[in-house]
Amino acid sequence: MASAPRTTSRTADDDWWRSAVVYQVYVRSFADANSDGVGDLQGIRQRLPYLRDLGVDALWLTPFYTSPQVDAGYDVADYRNVDPLFGDLTDFDEMITDAHALGLRIIVDMVPNHTSSAHPWFAAALAAGPGSPERERYLFAEGKGEQGELPPNDWESIFGGPAWTRVVDGQWYLHLFDPAQPDLNWRHPEVRAEFEDVLRFWLDRGVDGFRIDVAHGMIKAEGLPDVGFNSMTTGQRQSELLGKGRLPYFDQDEVHDIYRAWRPILDSYPGGRMAVAEAWAETPQRLARYIGPDELHQAFSFDFLDATWSADSFRKVIDTALAESTIVGAPTTWVLSNHDRQRHVTRYGDGEVGLRRARAAALLMFALPGCVYVYQGEELGLPEVLDLPDELRQDPAFRRTGESRDGCRVPIPWGGELPPYGFGPDGSELSWLPAPATWRSLSVAAQTAAPGSTLELYRTALRIRHEHPALAGLDAITWLETEPGVLAFRRTTGDAEVTCVVNISGADVTVRGYGRPLVASADLTERGDGHVLPVDAAAWFERR
Ligand code: BGC
Repeated sequence: MASAPRTTSRTADDDWWRSAVVYQVYVRSFADANSDGVGDLQGIRQRLPYLRDLGVDALWLTPFYTSPQVDAGYDVADYRNVDPLFGDLTDFDEMITDAHALGLRIIVDMVPNHTSSAHPWFAAALAAGPGSPERERYLFAEGKGEQGELPPNDWESIFGGPAWTRVVDGQWYLHLFDPAQPDLNWRHPEVRAEFEDVLRFWLDRGVDGFRIDVAHGMIKAEGLPDVGFNSMTTGQRQSELLGKGRLPYFDQDEVHDIYRAWRPILDSYPGGRMAVAEAWAETPQRLARYIGPDELHQAFSFDFLDATWSADSFRKVIDTALAESTIVGAPTTWVLSNHDRQRHVTRYGDGEVGLRRARAAALLMFALPGCVYVYQGEELGLPEVLDLPDELRQDPAFRRTGESRDGCRVPIPWGGELPPYGFGPDGSELSWLPAPATWRSLSVAAQTAAPGSTLELYRTALRIRHEHPALAGLDAITWLETEPGVLAFRRTTGDAEVTCVVNISGADVTVRGYGRPLVASADLTERGDGHVLPVDAAAWFERR
C-alpha cells in the first residue's frame, strides 16, 4: 500500500463526483467468495468487471469494519480494520487496486455518530465508572426519578423504545439507534482527533470518498432538553419528524464545525476525494448547509425516493432539488433505493406494474443532471422480499418496532438454477438470507444479453448517459409542454439534444417531434409521424 502524497493542486477530474453514477454495494449481500453465505471484499473484487460493464463510475461500500454486526456493521468496534466476515486489510487493498485499474472509484461508509458497544472506548467507559474521563467520550447521564430509575430525558431511539440504557452502576448512556450503538460525545477533542485520523487512514489506503452515516447527528443540544413527546406519551414517534421538524439530537448548528475540520483533510489529498452526507434536516435550506466548498460535497436528497408515482410529485421534487443545487453550487444526488428503504419496484406497486414503473423511473433518473446512486440489484429489477420468515430477519429495528429492512438486503442472484443463485462459488448453498424462487429469472446470467431485460436497459441507459454530449454534462433541463400526467424535459449541449418523456398518465400516449428514439423502458410502436409510449413507460429521444 502506497501512501498518497499530499498536494492541493486540482484538476477537472477532481469534480468526477458531480455527475457520477455511484453503485451502492451492500457488502454482506453482494458476492460471497469464501462460501460462508455472507458477501465479502474478495467477492466484490471478483465482480468488478461486472460493475465496469454496467457502466458505473464509483462504488459505495457499506461498512465492512470490525463489528459484532448487531446493525449489519453500522456498529463499528475497530474503524481501522476489516471484519473477518468480509476479509482483511490485504483483501481491501487488492480490491481497491483492481477497482482503480478498471477506472472505478471507491467510497467507504464512515460511522461517526456512534461506535459499537464492543469498541474498546466503550468497554473502558463501563469499566472506569461514573465521573471518569473514559465516560466523557460518550453521553452518560444520571437518570430522573428518586432513584435515577427514569431515563435522563424523553428521547427515543430511531429503532424504537427509549434512547437510553441504564448500566449496572446506575448511570444511563445515550444511543439514538440500538443499545449496542452508544452515541459519541463530539464535544470531546479526543473524539474529533480520532475520526480525523480514521479519515486519513482510509484516504492513505486510496479511498476516493466517504458516505457519512447519520451526518446530522453528532452534536446534541446543550443540556439534552426533552423533545416534549414520544411514542409513550402521545403515540407519535419522534422519528416521524425526520426531514420535517427540529429535534434536539439532530441537525444542531455546531455539527458544521466538524465538517469544516474534515474538508481540508479531504482537500489535502489528490484526485478529488469527496464526502456525501446521509443527513436529515427540517428544510431543504438546512440540508443545503452541509454542502459547500468548506463542508461536504453532497448530501443525499431523499425527496426523489419519497416521490409518489405521479407526474406532479416527480416534477415538484425535481424542480426543488435543481433549484437548491443552484443555490449551493453542487449538483443534486438522485436516489431511488438504498439498504434502509423498501425497494422501489415494490413501492411503485410491486409485480409487473411495479417493475414497469421502476424501469421508467430509472430512465427518468439517468436523464437528470447530477450524481446518481444505484442500489445493488435495482439494475436487475429486484423487488422487496416481503415474506421473509421472522426468525431469519436480522434488522435490530424488527425486534423493537416490527419493521425490518431485511427485505431489501437479500443477496444478489448471479446465475444458476437454485437459490442462492450463484451468490457464492459453485456448489455453495449458503446465503444469510434466502432468495425467493422467483429470482432465478432475475439473475445477472438470466438477464445478460436478454433483449428487453432490466439489466440490459440499465447498461444501455448508462452507456448513453456517459457518451451522449447532451446527457454527460451538467446543463440544466427544460420542461416541455405535455398532456397531463406526462413528464417531458430536454437536455441540450451545443447541437446535441435529448428529450426524456415519462408517461404517468394512466393511458398510452403518442409522442412526436422529439427525434429518434434512443432507449425506452417498454416497446415503442410507430404511429404516423410519432411513437406510442405505453402507460408507465419512459423513453429518450435525440436530435443532433
Ligand atoms: C444507516 C442505517 C443504520 C443507521 C445507524 C443509517 O443511516 O443507513 O443502515 O442502521 O444509520 O448507523
